[in-house]
Amino acid sequence: MSNNYLAGGVNSPIPIPEYYPQNIVRGEGPYVYDKDGSRFVDMWMGYGALLFGHADPDIVKSIKTATEKAFFFSYQTLIEKEYSEEIHNLIPSAEVIRYATTGSDAVAYAIRLARNYTKRNNVLSIKGGYHGAHEGMVSTTGTTIKTPPEFVKFNDPKAVSEKLESGSFACMILEPVLANSGCTPPNEGYLQEIRDICTRTGTVLIFDEVVNGFRMSIGGSQKRFNVTPDLSTFSKAIASGLPLSLIAGKKEIMEHYMPTGKVFFAGTFNGHPLSLSVARTVLKKLKDEKFYEQLDEMGDRFRLEISNLIHEYDLNIAIQGIGSMLTIGFGCKNFNQGITNENFDANAYQEFIKRMARLKILFPPLPTETVFLSPVHQEILEDIIEKTKNTLINMHKENLI
Ligand SMILES: Cc1ncc(COP(=O)(O)O)c(C=O)c1O
Repeated sequence: MSNNYLAGGVNSPIPIPEYYPQNIVRGEGPYVYDKDGSRFVDMWMGYGALLFGHADPDIVKSIKTATEKAFFFSYQTLIEKEYSEEIHNLIPSAEVIRYATTGSDAVAYAIRLARNYTKRNNVLSIKGGYHGAHEGMVSTTGTTIKTPPEFVKFNDPKAVSEKLESGSFACMILEPVLANSGCTPPNEGYLQEIRDICTRTGTVLIFDEVVNGFRMSIGGSQKRFNVTPDLSTFSKAIASGLPLSLIAGKKEIMEHYMPTGKVFFAGTFNGHPLSLSVARTVLKKLKDEKFYEQLDEMGDRFRLEISNLIHEYDLNIAIQGIGSMLTIGFGCKNFNQGITNENFDANAYQEFIKRMARLKILFPPLPTETVFLSPVHQEILEDIIEKTKNTLINMHKENLI
């Protein structure tokens, strides 16, 4: 074991169980490899960023080509303009865009913009959601922010309207498909109701598509559900594992950023050309019409098989999701407003992922995280489903679920 000088021994607040590989050195397709050569199926896929799996040859090629041309400049680049046009044509809310580097900075810039634009301070969001590690959104863990965000439950438009009618909220920010509280799709009509309430109360509606975007469709969840927010944030899958994020929005609001407006916006690596060149390759690959069809079919197949098993054995678990995103919730029959401390069985989840890890399949280590499928899982999908079902049946026989 090499020495570890990481603070606390880790580089993330998400604890990785001791029965998971601790020294990943390589990935290929659906697999990750530990330094001793052990191979595991990856069901977490870079928090959803790896739409095409690990080391996709086209992505690798585009990184190599980009590095040969020199890959970082302090001047304006051609690629940042060309890619902005592609995004403008694809994403409904993208009248204009700005690049950032991570999901957290995109959200922080969007909230700052909404506050300045509306001259209001409060931010409304969703219980159990996650919108980054910046001061604007983290209300409890070690921050000293003076105006912490307020939260309502997902899929409850009445609660949103009760808050927003006060006229004191700069913005409402949510993931159209809640992906950080177990994958929870919106109820029919929910997003449109939120849209209407925001319009009525002069509140900026922000869709955080950091996870959703390009997972749900090439135009994001806003295109899939046909509801257009005022601002939206994208990251993760847009550059398939390289650091890139963007804020898309109405020109009238976005022009409040400097230099046309007064809202400060900067970042050395924003719109990094290396990430942008990968992002363009991602778009080219996504234009294959069959891509989302295949992802949807894979997700539907997984959900159907597990859902049939739940009925057959009357298991106290739930399976939810949409397209390539899904979550098995333990200790509840559904989690329409997301997984919370009250409605999930953390012990059962830990037991499940431990048994799956023994079978060399890695589910996300936290029950609130989403499973992300990629076409690279296709060939081994039936095997994954079979092993998942057998594990659940065994746990049921042992009265663990
Ligand atoms: C919906 C959502 N928004 C924002 C973020 C923050 O992104 P990052 O970790 O790149 O800062 C995340 C990260 O998981 C996220 O899931």
